[in-house]
Amino acid sequence: MLIRSPAVKSRAAHGLPFLLGSAATHVDTYVERTAGTTHDLKGIRPSEGLFIFALLATDPPRRILESGRGRGYSTEILARCFPATRIISIERDRNSPDVEIAARRLEGNRNVECKFGDGRVELPRLIEQGDVVLIDGPKDFRALKLALRLLRTGRVRAAFMHDVIPGSHARRFLEKRVPSAFFSDAPEFLSSYGFVGSDEPRPAPGQTLPATVVDRLREGAMGFIPREPLPYGRLLVEVTFRQWKERLRDTARKWFKPANKSGNPGRI
Ligand SMILES: C[S@@+](CC[C@H](N)C(=O)[O-])C[C@H]1O[C@@H](n2cnc3c(N)ncnc32)[C@H](O)[C@@H]1O
Repeated sequence: MLIRSPAVKSRAAHGLPFLLGSAATHVDTYVERTAGTTHDLKGIRPSEGLFIFALLATDPPRRILESGRGRGYSTEILARCFPATRIISIERDRNSPDVEIAARRLEGNRNVECKFGDGRVELPRLIEQGDVVLIDGPKDFRALKLALRLLRTGRVRAAFMHDVIPGSHARRFLEKRVPSAFFSDAPEFLSSYGFVGSDEPRPAPGQTLPATVVDRLREGAMGFIPREPLPYGRLLVEVTFRQWKERLRDTARKWFKPANKSGNPGRI
């Protein structure tokens, strides 16, 4: 039986059960395909790679577009997990020492194309029907706006967003306004699959990791936003409005901060 990913068919109410079922089916393949990769602390977590793999493995896209390559850990994970998928990776900072590290890491991966540019300009220009995107730079509001802009075109099948940690602006917005989105730090996922790429032993069949371990493993979060018939234009306006509001708030905080301990008055 062909199971379609929630990005293709279902509403997100089915997302988490689909993720858990698919992770159970595909975790061994993930571990096999990513064996020998060296995790980079600046990169996504290995369990976040499984999160992506589990959601796409039954129906891999023809192309994945990545914004924010850094040292190329996520790019390598995508390339190995989806050998028949073209991975197009965009990095904004061509002068970073990370460029060379990524190039060395990725040499030999024939399904990877590394480009330079601003993902906010390049992704909207490059996307084609059925593409999946992974946004790991820019972050927060900017990442969310990029994801919504891409989803609005109707061409993108799903967007993954990294570092949507609880309490961040983007996470709060997604939780409130895009209920179909879900996250790799869901306790149901972490308690069974947080062991991937960590020093924790794999739980025995039917068992899960203790809550204290799950808490320790909850370092970051990958968000999954499936394309849905949502008013993306309106959501974009709302995000932009909130972004301005936060900027104004930050500016006000700087200007009106109270006198510090050395007696210097804050700006009034
Ligand atoms: C955390 S690192 C990426 C790590 C990488 N995805 C991994 O898992 O190994 C974030 C990267 O995004 C890049 N970046 C930030 N804003 C960007 C933008 N607008 N377009 C493309 N890349 C961007 C930064 O230069 C940085 O290299």
